[in-house]
Amino acid sequence: MSDKLIIFDTTLRDGEQSPGASMTRDEKLRIARQLERLRVDVIEAGFAASSNGDFEAVQLIANTIKDSTICSLSRANDKDISRAAEALKGANRARIHTFIATSALHMEKKLRMTPDQVFEQAKQAVRFARNLVDDIEFSPEDGYRSDPDFLCRVIEAVINEGATTINVPDTVGYAIPELYGNFIKDLRERVPNSDKAIWSVHCHNDLGMAVANSLAGVKIGGARQVECTINGLGERAGNCSLEEVVMAVKTRRDYFGLELGIDTRHILAASRMVSQTTGFVVQPNKAVVGANAFAHASGIHQDGVLKARDTYEIMRAEDVGWTANKIVLGKLSGRNAFKQRLQELGVQMESEAEINAAFTRFKELADRKSEIFDEDILALVSEENVSQHKEQYVFVSLSQHSETGERPQASIVFTVDGKEVKGTAEGNGPVDASLKAIEAHVKSGAEMVLYSVNAISGSTESQGEVTVRLQNSGRVVNGVGADPDIVVASAKAYLSALNKLQSKADRVAAQG
Ligand code: KIV
Ligand code: ZN
Repeated sequence: MSDKLIIFDTTLRDGEQSPGASMTRDEKLRIARQLERLRVDVIEAGFAASSNGDFEAVQLIANTIKDSTICSLSRANDKDISRAAEALKGANRARIHTFIATSALHMEKKLRMTPDQVFEQAKQAVRFARNLVDDIEFSPEDGYRSDPDFLCRVIEAVINEGATTINVPDTVGYAIPELYGNFIKDLRERVPNSDKAIWSVHCHNDLGMAVANSLAGVKIGGARQVECTINGLGERAGNCSLEEVVMAVKTRRDYFGLELGIDTRHILAASRMVSQTTGFVVQPNKAVVGANAFAHASGIHQDGVLKARDTYEIMRAEDVGWTANKIVLGKLSGRNAFKQRLQELGVQMESEAEINAAFTRFKELADRKSEIFDEDILALVSEENVSQHKEQYVFVSLSQHSETGERPQASIVFTVDGKEVKGTAEGNGPVDASLKAIEAHVKSGAEMVLYSVNAISGSTESQGEVTVRLQNSGRVVNGVGADPDIVVASAKAYLSALNKLQSKADRVAAQG
């Protein structure tokens, strides 16, 4: 058995299915570039048949990324599979990932198909896909809750049809590590041609065990591919987190004995990029990428780490990219230094005009904030990306007044399709007043389901990064805004969410 563990990242597909996490084509490409830098083996770039937007995103990523295998999800039917193959045409290495549910519950209630029909459709799908690309992954959806006898029959058949990877999803996050590990082991022992495919694990985090289950699938079950997402992004409680699974295998090489192709120094930048793009904030105590992951507050710990780092640290912060968290630029930094830092951060800008626009924003920020960190640059570039898209609503300026004992007031100027408008309102606090001032004009009627503020680089001198999640007519979107003034950041986040609500992106959930 191989001692290489394949890392299959599905941030851009399963991660994106998380409510409000949907991304534009360009945002997906930017993240795909970061995943390539991270040396992820397989990037699941999307679900090509789900929408024109997703088709274009998969196509763009397939045409651009050269070092990772690019994969598209596809239901088990000829139409979806052909669409996936078409989107993947430009890829150096292409994979089609086709799936159909195999649990009694899903077959009967969701698909309304008999087991025999599912068996035939799975076989037929893999046979069809095999004529289009060589690399075929098959997933029996809700595999962990499926009847093992039926599962063995389906898996044996799809391997005979040419499936090269067999992925066994715990779609609803129901598994327990030991049981899941043994489940994979039993399948591998019982399926006669199991050695003809690479076995893969795909765990959801509903009981907080996605990483533990995946590792058990590797250690006990002998899986050699883990499907995961940056920051564990994903529907409900999310997916298995890439950074945790990778650092577990790397740090405990003594136990797992497996090789990884991942360049872990790019983990933190990937985490920041995904968080800033989707508005899903990383909790401070999150393993590996949380702000406190390497912070020692207690005197005894600090003392120990100063004497010998391994007294309290099992990983080196710099191995996952934490050293990047230093002052990098300031007011006097020139365009060249800015451009070079962008390159070092792996941010690719398409034209000199784009760099100039980002540099102007950088100068404006440096006038207000003496120390500029990498996180500030990444936030600024995210905003720059958004502003290029001729958004309907664009922030211009804001003034607000709040005083103890008085009701705060705000007035905001923003453009609607290029035309300046002004809104004024009162609210419970300055943020509330500012957002009401926007709403007074826009009248979106959207419901706010989440509002959160995060200090980008930790102190009160930092920029505030605000996430606003809005819901309207069944759509959920996240808007993100950053500014040293958190009221302005809030207004920007609100306008960004309104812009997303406004966009006509149609999406079909892979498991709908
Ligand atoms: O969780 C799941 O079952 C999936 C499949 C589509 C692989 O994401
Ligand atoms: Zn999934």
